[in-house]
Amino acid sequence: MSRIAYVNGAYVPMSEACVHIDDRGYQFADGVYEGVSVRRGKLIDLEPHLDRLWRSLGELQMMAPMDRGPMRLVLKEVVRRNRIKDGFLYLQITRGVAPRDHPFPAQTPWPAMVVTAKRLNFDAVMDRAMTQGVAGSSQPDIRWGRCDVKSTSLLPNILAKQAAREAGAFEAIMVDRDGYVTEGSSTNIWMVTKDGTLVTRSTDDNILPGITRASVMKVARDLQMKVEERAFTLEEAKGAAEMFLTSSTSCAMPIVSLDGQKIGDGTPGPVAKRLVEAYKAFMDA
Ligand code: PDD
Repeated sequence: MSRIAYVNGAYVPMSEACVHIDDRGYQFADGVYEGVSVRRGKLIDLEPHLDRLWRSLGELQMMAPMDRGPMRLVLKEVVRRNRIKDGFLYLQITRGVAPRDHPFPAQTPWPAMVVTAKRLNFDAVMDRAMTQGVAGSSQPDIRWGRCDVKSTSLLPNILAKQAAREAGAFEAIMVDRDGYVTEGSSTNIWMVTKDGTLVTRSTDDNILPGITRASVMKVARDLQMKVEERAFTLEEAKGAAEMFLTSSTSCAMPIVSLDGQKIGDGTPGPVAKRLVEAYKAFMDA
């Protein structure tokens, strides 16, 4: 069965899905996106994802191509048509088509919207989280000052992720000029101190406000865990009891080594494992 994409009002086979070459998303990465996990056919945290999408659009003075009600229907229809049980839904909105020129077009074009979905085996992701975890590689954070906007301009993230992969790691742990961890190239980063406190950078501090981050934080607080939102240095992270990352595709995933150095004993730690199980229960609820 061919995958089906939603493109500007129509559901089309992937092989026929295309956008205009003068689309500002193609020309300038002038667009925003969301990635939503799908578990047992259900879109996880859909409303917070839509809240974040509307915020990103507002910050870039872009229009939404439709209201939230129809948008929910389109997203669910893409999941249904692709027969996704466990998977990942991608939604992108760009400023639309206009002759190439940097400022916003004088006549506001209709925004272009694309939605795709693919399978993702969350049982395998959670199995990896419980048994193996992943390696991290520190990389300089060379991004701009508006990382709170979920923009499709991801070149610095791509370069960081690629450098991490070339170093044999799963994720780039991005570090600012002062030596503080910001976030992963496509994830939020956490550490667990020796006294069991969870620490993750504040979303007021030029990072993406991760939806999984927020849900994991709630799950942690429900488990009576102590959570602190503050910046921490790479050195502090390397000396932590545990580290983990969160994202829609990785859930909560232990980081068991950083720059080749073991974190804790180099295996998924007890705090992260409790969170993986609790987050799984949240997804399955
Ligand atoms: N990435 N930080 C960055 C820079 C991200 O790109 C993402 C998401 C996150 C985690 O956010 P959330 O929990 O809402 O997925 C943090 C998605 C998965 C992506 O780019 O594919």
